[in-house]
Amino acid sequence: MDTNISFTLKVWRQNGPKAKGHFDTFEMKDIPGDTSFLEMLDILNEQLIEDGQEPFVFDHDCREGICGMCSLYINGHPHGPGQGATTCQLYMRRFSDGDVITVEPWRSAGFPVIKDCMVDRSAFDKIIAAGGYTSVRTGQAQDANAILISKEAADEAMDCATCIGCGACVAACKNGSAMLFVSSKVSQLALLPQGRPEAAKRAKAMVAKMEELGFGNCTNTRACEAECPKNESIANIARLNREFIKAKLND
Ligand code: FES
Repeated sequence: MDTNISFTLKVWRQNGPKAKGHFDTFEMKDIPGDTSFLEMLDILNEQLIEDGQEPFVFDHDCREGICGMCSLYINGHPHGPGQGATTCQLYMRRFSDGDVITVEPWRSAGFPVIKDCMVDRSAFDKIIAAGGYTSVRTGQAQDANAILISKEAADEAMDCATCIGCGACVAACKNGSAMLFVSSKVSQLALLPQGRPEAAKRAKAMVAKMEELGFGNCTNTRACEAECPKNESIANIARLNREFIKAKLND
């Protein structure tokens, strides 16, 4: 059975993108181990509201590891300790009585702070809008088996498609590079026959948009791979580089 823990919680407070931020410290008492990290923050906010103080602002939506909204940097790691899980899938049993838990926003030029630990991740939407799709011609729906796809390609494309666009790769990278995100999104389409007609255009457009939006270069530190909650592989980055070079050579 999970035991209750008491700990010191330090959360980043910042009024806007240009405001100077600071940590607020709270003593959290008797939090059950089966409380999720976000539920623990809900408890904090209930206390703050009861005390007439401003609640701590953080992002969340699905709370089941799907949407990628719960972008918190916890004790020096995007999504906190452990691998293969998002902040909303993190439980307080991962921490010990007496711990100091520090919560910060994603820190990247590409993700300006909106308030406290909520950041603006619309840059990722802009990168997807630049080319992360296949154009669909209207007309009769094709027979499901008209284009055969090998199991290996389908599995690999599906692995790439599990990227939820949370931005942990950017937060983990000392260069603020978005290459793991972009390469996963390029790969999921490049691996399938339906994605090939626009592959060259897509690789160039998405890389250009990523650079325009202020994300840094990849220097192969692999921090992104180590911290990705969906275990995306940097093999995707190698594939993106190949797609990009091929596209440039055919210009
Ligand atoms: S809130 Fe959706 S992934 Fe965490």
